[in-house]
Amino acid sequence: MSRFSDYIQNAFGFSPAEAEGIIESMKKPIGKSIRINTRKITLEKFKLHAKEQWWTLTETDIPEVFLIDRDDTTIALGNTIEHVAGWFYIQEVAAAHPPYLLKKHIANHPDKILDMCASPGGKTTQLADYFPDSLIIANEVNRTRTPQLFDNLDRMGYDNIAVVSCDGRFFQNFPDFFDAVLLDAPCSGEGTVFRDSSIVDHWHEKNIDRIAKLQKQLMETAEAVTAPGGTLSYSTCTLNVMENEEVIDSRLQKESTPLTELFRKRFWPHIEHTGGFFASIFQKKNASQTEHDYPVLAAQGQKNLIVTPATKGEREIVERFISKHLKSTLKNGFLYVTKDGVYFNQRNLGPLAEYFFFVHAGTKIGTVKGNTFTPTHHLWWCLEEVSHIPEFPISSEQWASSINHKQITVDVPDGYYKVSYGRGTVGICSVQNQVLITKNLQ
Ligand SMILES: C[S@@+](CC[C@H](N)C(=O)[O-])C[C@H]1O[C@@H](n2cnc3c(N)ncnc32)[C@H](O)[C@@H]1O
Repeated sequence: MSRFSDYIQNAFGFSPAEAEGIIESMKKPIGKSIRINTRKITLEKFKLHAKEQWWTLTETDIPEVFLIDRDDTTIALGNTIEHVAGWFYIQEVAAAHPPYLLKKHIANHPDKILDMCASPGGKTTQLADYFPDSLIIANEVNRTRTPQLFDNLDRMGYDNIAVVSCDGRFFQNFPDFFDAVLLDAPCSGEGTVFRDSSIVDHWHEKNIDRIAKLQKQLMETAEAVTAPGGTLSYSTCTLNVMENEEVIDSRLQKESTPLTELFRKRFWPHIEHTGGFFASIFQKKNASQTEHDYPVLAAQGQKNLIVTPATKGEREIVERFISKHLKSTLKNGFLYVTKDGVYFNQRNLGPLAEYFFFVHAGTKIGTVKGNTFTPTHHLWWCLEEVSHIPEFPISSEQWASSINHKQITVDVPDGYYKVSYGRGTVGICSVQNQVLITKNLQ
């Protein structure tokens, strides 16, 4: 009997045989599931498209999330054009619940949402999809995990996310600041045993104590930064009580708690056939809003800002390109520049840059070198008028060959094309000397 087996017997009253059965089912692989990016393709179109690819989609309780089964797996799901173009995110069903439940229970339209522990970005992009007019501030403290987050944000292409990178407890400087907060806490990961069985084999209560202490501090911060009347989600991908009930109860049991609990659920792998997970939702009581003087902390005085607003000259270069080559204009929004490229955000990050040190700023639309702008395929989604742009439908054979060659030989005049595939749009790509350049896509 393992320590973990002893623990779940004591904590949840399972018999030894039940506990062993549960641990066995935790180790079994779970079905692959995806969440559709409804800003790029409608659910109806995606379902038709999937049928035409001979993909079997099975509905879940979340309308945008499906279990997926494919006969032909010669191309890994992550290399399919649908994935690369950002039509879906590979996301575990249980893990898709916090943003879904937050949306379900939210009372008022949230203007600013904080995703306190964001990488690799499953829940961040889900929030961006559900709240297209809100600004999502995604935070990831671990710089070795921000590239993964950036890759996913760039692939999914939402224009209402900005990223900061600090310890979640830093936000305590901003009481009542966010209309909704998602805290998907770092945890011991018992619910991910289907990926790595050593998690239960090496389970020790001592390690849980350490992480539970951090979770309580993050939860206290999350409560503080949620605005009165706002909504807060606390979740983990672990099953023990110390990282779940004890964390939320540490707030709820305070005499002056401002939180009302709206929902809590544990996903058991042997019942739900998902990963193990815990989700809970709270509303902060609607007190009269106190005026706060937020400290001008992060970005002020920093010479090496990672994200800066585009200069007038940089904006002109982008706009000139769009007008000349695409006969269009940018949607209303703001341009930001990093060393990696130019980003479009429908929201003005300017006022918030006094408080937060942004490291990523929205949809990556291209790069500027000298006077030259080179677009990414995402530019498509940030243009005002697109109906006149010529279409180039790409076939699955062409895509398969392009995975290695990063380009496709075509027989159309040079220029910029809306690349489509099946039922959806991939984005803008250029044709030069009878070659459609797809390297930006990968
Ligand atoms: C469960 S993962 C987040 C998964 C993500 N929400 C998603 O859906 O893709 C928890 C994250 O918390 C981060 N983390 C660890 N310590 C933290 C801290 N003190 N403050 C904020 N985030 C922290 C970890 O680096 C990790 O990326």
